[in-house]
Amino acid sequence: PGAHALVYLESRLRDVPDFPKPGILFKDITPLLADPRALHITIDLLAERFVGERIDLVVGIESRGFIFGGAVATRLNAGFVPVRKLGKLPWKTDRLTYALEYGEAELEMHVDSIPRGARVLIVDDVLATGGTASAAAELARRQGGVVAAFAFVVELDFLAGRSRLDGDDDGTRPAVY
Ligand code: PRP
Ligand code: MG
Repeated sequence: PGAHALVYLESRLRDVPDFPKPGILFKDITPLLADPRALHITIDLLAERFVGERIDLVVGIESRGFIFGGAVATRLNAGFVPVRKLGKLPWKTDRLTYALEYGEAELEMHVDSIPRGARVLIVDDVLATGGTASAAAELARRQGGVVAAFAFVVELDFLAGRSRLDGDDDGTRPAVY
């Protein structure tokens, strides 16, 4: 991507101090979502490096990962599988407790959502500590999925979440924007 595109996208993020707790600087993506050009560029950038690669399913993480994950799935001709917070999915689930930047939570995935060997791309809005994305990857692997890569809109690199993420292919790297 051109540097100007990234500068533009960054200008559409709003930093909110002390949300949801004192000491947390929250990255608010709603200005980016509300800007048609910024939203379009974001989806283009998230999807482009996987065009021509086999991605069978995009796994999107509730709630903000749903927004980007669904759009990326259509670009890649992939299906979409939701990872949801506890108690939201109607069918049989596998669940995992994970640590958040601010607290602890549980994620669930439907047990029959990923065919064995399917190549999945994990999509979320923000990579912070990496706890959420690595929990989603673990759930996908337990269902028999192969984690091809990860894609995010924002990386909080001072939290080093990238170091907690491993793809299943040799040489696979987290794809982070
Ligand atoms: C935020 C963000 C990521 C996650 C990143 O979600 O949307 O999913 O935290 O943090 P981590 O890398 O430290 O795990 P949050 O749990 O606040 O919920 P939301 O998406 O429903 O707002
Ligand atoms: Mg989230």
